[in-house]
Amino acid sequence: MTEKFSSRIPGFYRKPIDERINIISEKMKLSEEDVKVLKSRGGLALDAADHMTENVIGTISYPFSVAVNFRVDGMDYLVPMAGEEPSVVAAASNMARLMREGEGIKTSTTEPIMIGQIQVLEIPDMEKAITAIEENKKMLLESANELDPVLVKFGGGAKDMELRPIETEKGEMLIVHLLVDCRDAMGANAVNTMAEALAPTIAELTGGRTLLRIISNLADKRTVTVRCKVRPGDIGGVEAVDRIVEAWAFADADPYRAATHNKGIMNGIIAVALAFAQDHRAIEAGAHAYAVRDGRYRSLSRWSKDNEGNLIGEMTLPMAIGLVGGATRSHPMAQVARKILGVDKAVVLGKVMCAVGLAQNLGALRALTQEGIQEGHMKLHARNLVVMAGAEGEMINKAVELLVESGEIRFPKAQEIVQKLKTR
Ligand code: MEV
Repeated sequence: MTEKFSSRIPGFYRKPIDERINIISEKMKLSEEDVKVLKSRGGLALDAADHMTENVIGTISYPFSVAVNFRVDGMDYLVPMAGEEPSVVAAASNMARLMREGEGIKTSTTEPIMIGQIQVLEIPDMEKAITAIEENKKMLLESANELDPVLVKFGGGAKDMELRPIETEKGEMLIVHLLVDCRDAMGANAVNTMAEALAPTIAELTGGRTLLRIISNLADKRTVTVRCKVRPGDIGGVEAVDRIVEAWAFADADPYRAATHNKGIMNGIIAVALAFAQDHRAIEAGAHAYAVRDGRYRSLSRWSKDNEGNLIGEMTLPMAIGLVGGATRSHPMAQVARKILGVDKAVVLGKVMCAVGLAQNLGALRALTQEGIQEGHMKLHARNLVVMAGAEGEMINKAVELLVESGEIRFPKAQEIVQKLKTR
């Protein structure tokens, strides 16, 4: 992002879609072609889809939205999010507004190191095997790097190895971790290629038999940490801060609650991942495996109160994402998403995704500790129903109001209300 601009767009949600598109196009300098893609109901032509996966007979599209108000490391971002669940984008935008009143969201990251695993079985002498690999580490890393000179040219490549003997039901095994700096790539291709190529030499050096050679989705060496401070006055007062911390403590202590709490975090992260056509299963798998890293499944986030009564939120997550190669390059909507966010570095996308996850978590905790989540959900549900019933333009808000007032938020009632408004 070259230009400093504001992601605050008051009343964005109330504007008609065309106006929203105009605002975003102007701010992010989208081309006519980009706007065409946005209006094309999913952006993916059938023949492009056919090249992406197998046995294609159609495409499916999700709402593609923009979350406003995000400020991360002092920069403002408009964040593309895709998904079917109501309230997610609204909650992210609202919480991002509170977070920017504090001091915005601050982040830090590790290097983009992914792990390739090589499984070695039937090793005759584990100690000797480990020494043999250690003595040949330089040669192994060099031969891995010969496979990807482009990655090496950009400062990435195989950097180190870790050797992990483990006990299994099928006896002792040596798990060789190849640590690869993937720069702006998600890295699965590079890492898998390297792991497959090194396996025969590793078998020879250890005297064992290699079996699996594959990336690990527990990307705990490629993490993003986000932190935010929310002033008590912005979140409903001192008691509201205490309740949020209590709600977090519940999630941190109880896996049943932690699963739901973390699902809420992933509501935000996966929505951004979908907008960028990322491998969201990898991100999801990494997050949940990370949540259980100390043996008990717990909250991915941490909420506490500082000495001045501010609410402090923190979260560290594995972020295996890429902006080169794969669907993120070939999917037209993902290309527009990239222009809207204004990033070309995977690490920045990772920071923003993690920030959205933390905002989403705060939105859920705020609602759950105050009015509950159903009120907001029902309003959005009502909106969907009246639109399905044929309400358009200005009529939508009035129809939603009447439907909510009726206390009967169901499709037949929505139809009745829309019909009445149309014949007025
Ligand atoms: C719903 O999609 C997500 C929440 O259940 C998350 C949470 O309970 O923290 C609201």
